[in-house]
Amino acid sequence: MSLTNQVYPVVWQGNCVLLIDQTRLPGEYAVVEISRCDDMALAIKTMIVRGAPAIGVAAAYGMYLGAREIETDSRDEFLTRLEAVAQKLRATRPTAVNLFWAIDRMLKTARQTIGPVEHLRQSLLNMAQTINAEDLQTCRAIGDRGLEVLPSTPAKLRILTHCNAGALATAGYGTALGVVRSAWYNGRLERVYADETRPRLQGTKLTAWECVQEGIPVTVITDGMAAHCMQRGMVDAVVVGADRIAANGDTANKIGTYNVALVAKAHNVPFFVAAPLSTVDFKLSDGREIPIEERDPEEVFQIGDTIICPPGADFYNPAFDVTPANLVTAIITEHGAISPSQLAQFQTQQVV
Ligand code: MRU
Repeated sequence: MSLTNQVYPVVWQGNCVLLIDQTRLPGEYAVVEISRCDDMALAIKTMIVRGAPAIGVAAAYGMYLGAREIETDSRDEFLTRLEAVAQKLRATRPTAVNLFWAIDRMLKTARQTIGPVEHLRQSLLNMAQTINAEDLQTCRAIGDRGLEVLPSTPAKLRILTHCNAGALATAGYGTALGVVRSAWYNGRLERVYADETRPRLQGTKLTAWECVQEGIPVTVITDGMAAHCMQRGMVDAVVVGADRIAANGDTANKIGTYNVALVAKAHNVPFFVAAPLSTVDFKLSDGREIPIEERDPEEVFQIGDTIICPPGADFYNPAFDVTPANLVTAIITEHGAISPSQLAQFQTQQVV
């Protein structure tokens, strides 16, 4: 198998950033041109770009675009105003820690660069491109390291995933779907089961799209079907992504992931979290401290333009849940598979 139809959701195009508009897939493949920091902040908030690592890469470019708009030759003024740019980007989405990690790395780069303001701006662009390139490399490593821990039988695996932790959610290749891709290229994959992932349907719309692009066999199921499929012995492993992992291995990922982990435990199916080390928030001792984004209730009571609930009902729309570490078989990182209890030992390996 070869790498075909590669998808890069965030691309630096000389003077601006190109984003695949993920709100329009799979119906329409549209690319949005972003030249201003405000537009990047809006693209992250409205989920034109989404998925923790992709948000981090987009925010890094957003920092450079913001830096480009600061008109001053004073280093102190530049750094003060750059902090305001960072604040604008931080306010977009609260759960994915890669956003904050990338912004902090960009700020640190600016502070550590000596010379005139123009040098600081250039160092920010260089760092955004580094974060972008590193993420692609990291995802490929996660994919390959994941192969080492997938069950050795059956020869061809049926892997269930939730939401979209694919090329679209990263610089390319994906984390959970990176493991799936590596399994496919190495003849170890029979099929992917993609949970639809209500309310925004990232599984149906994005994961299925990516798989179809590459000819990876994919079966979309509604979220309530995962237990049934596992009870019937149709799933050999679960692999999901993560938005933020606490130091003890508690993992925030798309709402519904916790249900899948519980069901996997009940049916003795290994449950893997695939994520770069930049998704671990070593400052948080456990998952109770992870901020959970609440989104517009409209996402629950409406599908597309159709309102599906009667007037008078109330709605609750947390975008993520936290899977306790004891349900996680291993966290597949670019450094290999780590058991949640060993995670804290890897703090020194994190690039900050
Ligand atoms: O709300 P989204 O679509 O940004 O949520 C995405 C997820 O939950 C992904 O599983 C996670 O960010 C990991 S992406 C490699």
